[in-house]
Amino acid sequence: MGHLDGRVIVVTGAGRGVGREHALRFAEEGASVVVNDLGGEQDGSGGNVGPAQEVVDEIVGMGGKAIANGDSVATWEGAKAIIDCAVDTFGDLHGLVNNAGILRDRMLVSMSEEDFDSVINVHLKGTWLMMKHASAHWREKAKAGEEVKASIVNTSSTSGLHSNIGQGNYGPAKSAIATLSIIGARELGRYGVRVNAIAPSARTRMTLSTPGLGERIGEPEDGSFDQWDPANISPLIAWLCTENCQATAQVYWVGGNEIARYLEWSRADVAKTDGRWEIDDLERVVGGWETGHVESRSILVTDTEPYGRGTN
Ligand SMILES: NC(=O)c1ccc[n+]([C@@H]2O[C@H](COP(=O)([O-])OP(=O)(O)OC[C@H]3O[C@@H](n4cnc5c(N)ncnc54)[C@H](O)[C@@H]3O)[C@@H](O)[C@H]2O)c1
Repeated sequence: MGHLDGRVIVVTGAGRGVGREHALRFAEEGASVVVNDLGGEQDGSGGNVGPAQEVVDEIVGMGGKAIANGDSVATWEGAKAIIDCAVDTFGDLHGLVNNAGILRDRMLVSMSEEDFDSVINVHLKGTWLMMKHASAHWREKAKAGEEVKASIVNTSSTSGLHSNIGQGNYGPAKSAIATLSIIGARELGRYGVRVNAIAPSARTRMTLSTPGLGERIGEPEDGSFDQWDPANISPLIAWLCTENCQATAQVYWVGGNEIARYLEWSRADVAKTDGRWEIDDLERVVGGWETGHVESRSILVTDTEPYGRGTN
C-alpha cells in the first residue's frame, strides 16, 4: 500500500532536479504521474521531451505508471494540454505540483525586459495557468456532485520570501506564488481543493550554478545524511497530496531534515494619530521604527501627547 495509491498527479518541470524526485516518489507511493518538462536550458531557451521521457522510463521500469509531456506551463494552450493529458490518460486528476522554473539573474539596472518577462511567465503566469485549468476540472466535478479531494502544491523560494538581490524577476515571481497559493486556497476550498506552497533548498543545476552556494553543496564523502539531496523535499509534497491531508493555505520551507512554516505578511508596528499625519511626526515615529529607537510598538500619537500614549 502506497500513500498515494489511485491518485493522479501532474508534476511540472519533473525532468530534472527537485521535480524529478517528486515524480519518482509519487510513483513509488502508487500515484499515476504526468511527468511534464519542456526540457530546456536553465534560462528557458530550447526544449526537448528527453528528460521527461527518461523519468517516465525509470518509473515504468520499476513497475509504476507515468506519461511524459513536453508542453510549456507558460502558455494557455500548453498548460491546458498538460491537465488534459492527465485526465485523458489516467481518467482523473487529484494533485498538481507546480515546480517548473527558470533563472535569469541580473541586477535591476542590467536586466532586460525579456529577462523579466520570461521568468515571470514561467513561474508566476505558469503557476496561475496550471491552477486555472486544473480548477476548471475540479469545479466541474464538484458541480456534478462528486467529492473532490484535490491538492495543489506550488513552488515558492526564499529568494522571494527573503528578497535576494540580483533576482528582481525571480524573487517577486516567487513571493507572488506564495500569495497566489493562499488566495487559491481561499477560493478553491469550496470545491474540495487545498492549496499550499513550498520553498525548497536542494542540490540541482539551479543551485549548483549559484555563486557562493554551488561549491558548498556537494554530496558528503563520509556517507552521512545528505542535507542537499533533492529527494529530501519530496516526502512533504507527497504528504500534501495524500487524500486526507488537511493542510491548506500554508507556506513551508523544506530542506535536508528540516521543515519550517511561514506566516503571512503581518504588522510589526502600528501607530495612529488624530486626523492626517504631520511629516515631522512621521519622521519621529515611523523613522524611529527604522532606527529601532521606539520602545512601544503600538502607539497613539495625539496633539496633547504627541509621542507614545501607549496602547500596547
Ligand atoms: N533547488 C533549490 O534549492 C530551489 C530553491 C528555491 C526554489 N526552487 C524552485 O524549485 C523548482 C525546481 O527547481 P530545480 O532546482 O529542480 O531546477 P531545475 O532547473 O533542475 O528544474 C527545473 C525544470 O523546469 C523545467 N522547465 C522550465 N521551464 C518550463 C516550462 N515553461 N514548462 C515546463 N517545464 C519547464 C526545466 O526544463 C527543468 O527541468 C523551481 O520552481 C525553482 O525555482 C529550487
